Amino acid sequence: MKSIVILISGRGSNLQALLEARLPCRIAAVISNRADAAGLKIAQQHGIATHIIAHQDYSDRDAFDTALAASIDHYQPDLVVLAGFMRILTAQFVARYRGRLINIHPSLLPAYSGLDTHRRALHDGVKIHGCTVHFVTDDLDHGPIIIQAAVPVLMNDTAATLAARVLHQEHRIYVQAIRWFCNGHLSLSAQGKVLLQRIEQPGCTLIMPGLE
Ligand code: GAR
Repeated sequence: MKSIVILISGRGSNLQALLEARLPCRIAAVISNRADAAGLKIAQQHGIATHIIAHQDYSDRDAFDTALAASIDHYQPDLVVLAGFMRILTAQFVARYRGRLINIHPSLLPAYSGLDTHRRALHDGVKIHGCTVHFVTDDLDHGPIIIQAAVPVLMNDTAATLAARVLHQEHRIYVQAIRWFCNGHLSLSAQGKVLLQRIEQPGCTLIMPGLE
C-alpha cells in the first residue's frame, strides 16, 4: 500500500476530507509550519503522527525546506500532499519530489494563481470559478493540472459564499486525485505531462447564467 504525508498551515478541512475518505493508502504523518494550525488537532483525533516545522525558526527558505524534507523523508512517502500549505517552496525542494508532490488551489488555474482568489474572481465578474489539483513545479501554481471542478458564481455571492461552494468541490477532487495516484492510475511523465489511465471523461457543460 502506498503512503502519503500531508502538509498543512491552517484549518485543515481538506485534510479532514482526506482522512474521512478511506483512501487506499496509509496517511503516515501530517506536518504543519504553524503550531496553531487547527488541522493538527484533526490529525491527532484520527491517530495520525503530527510534526511542527515552524518556518520562523529557520534563517531562510533553504534551511526551512531542508528541515521539512528531512521530516518528510523519515516516512519515505510515495506522495506529498499540500493541503492549504501556505509556504512557497524552493526549486530544490520541488525537484526532490518531482511527480510525487501535489497541491490544491482555490481557482481554475491558470486564472487567479496566488492569494485572495475568490475576491478577485468576484471583482472581475467571472461567471464560472472553481478549484484545481496539480503537480507542483517551481512555476508557482502553474504545475501540470490533474483535475479541476467548476462552480457557478451566483449574483449575490460574497467571497465567503463563493469560497464555501468552491471548498465543497475541493474536498471531492482532492480525494479523487489521490485515489487515482494510490491506485496507480495517475503519474507525471518525464516530459511533464499528466498521465491518467482508465479514467472516464464525461462531456457535460456548465453554462452560467443558464440558457432559457
Ligand atoms: C483551501 O481553500 C486551499 O485550496 C487553499 O487554502 C485553503 C485551505 O483550507 N490553498 C491555497 O490557497 C494554496 N495556494 P483547509 O485548511 O481548510 O484545507
